[in-house]
Amino acid sequence: MPELAYINGAVMPIEDAFVHVEDRGYQFGDAVYEVIASYGGKMFCLEEHFARLDRSMKELYFPKFQIDEIKKAAVEIFSKANIERAAVYIQISRGVAPRNHSLPGNIPLQVVMTVRKIDDKKFPSKESGISAITVEDLRWGRCDIKTVQLLANSLAKQKALDAGCYDAIFVSKDGIVREGSSSNLFILSGGVLFTHPLTSDILPGITRSQILDICREKEYPVQERFFNKSELYDAVEVFLTGTITEALPVVQIDGRPVGNGKVGPMAKALQESLLERLKN
Ligand code: PDD
Repeated sequence: MPELAYINGAVMPIEDAFVHVEDRGYQFGDAVYEVIASYGGKMFCLEEHFARLDRSMKELYFPKFQIDEIKKAAVEIFSKANIERAAVYIQISRGVAPRNHSLPGNIPLQVVMTVRKIDDKKFPSKESGISAITVEDLRWGRCDIKTVQLLANSLAKQKALDAGCYDAIFVSKDGIVREGSSSNLFILSGGVLFTHPLTSDILPGITRSQILDICREKEYPVQERFFNKSELYDAVEVFLTGTITEALPVVQIDGRPVGNGKVGPMAKALQESLLERLKN
């Protein structure tokens, strides 16, 4: 079935989908989004993604909206596209208004969605892992809100690619390791997994929370706590987590091997457990 787009109730081929030049998402980055992956024709963690979308919109004081209507539309377009392995992209902007920094009053939200096929072959292998660089985190102070203001993320990703690596890891000015350019990050050190606590400096990833849940279920020691760049370099294992990314081992950082430079058993075990959840 075709890849599809949705704009404010209308469904069309993606090539035919356009938004207004004065959409505030386009002019101010005044929009929030979600990416939901499907496995075997089922969207994974639909409720969790919509709960986060609802929160993002509330944090930006979007005027009254019906989150359930948006969810219903997402389910409908996904089922219309009928693509088993899809990425459903949902973007809500505050709306269309003459350009002005102050927020417009109660104007209708702009709801845009696309459903595209995911080609798993295009993503790096979990068997061999990836290399990454660290970059200074130049993002704004509300990284917990999933806004479309992703320029710092894009530049970081490109810097990694230009360095022959797959991704960039954000590190704060004072050395705290935050997350990847489009993923959260875990390290394994001294037999314990660590990940950055939920603050305004990282996105509360849905995959992150699935991994924490798996750790609790399997009784793997895990702590949400800050760690610095030298702990990252000294970690036995490092992996990124995210929608589509899943649990992706990092085997080299800034040219140094992580642990023995090979994919470790913890990342492997967690990826397997995650796959069980994704596919059931
Ligand atoms: N990115 N951190 C950042 C900065 C992200 O952009 C993402 C996801 C994550 C992981 O969140 P989740 O597990 O809920 O996907 C963490 C999406 C997929 C993207 O921008 O395409």
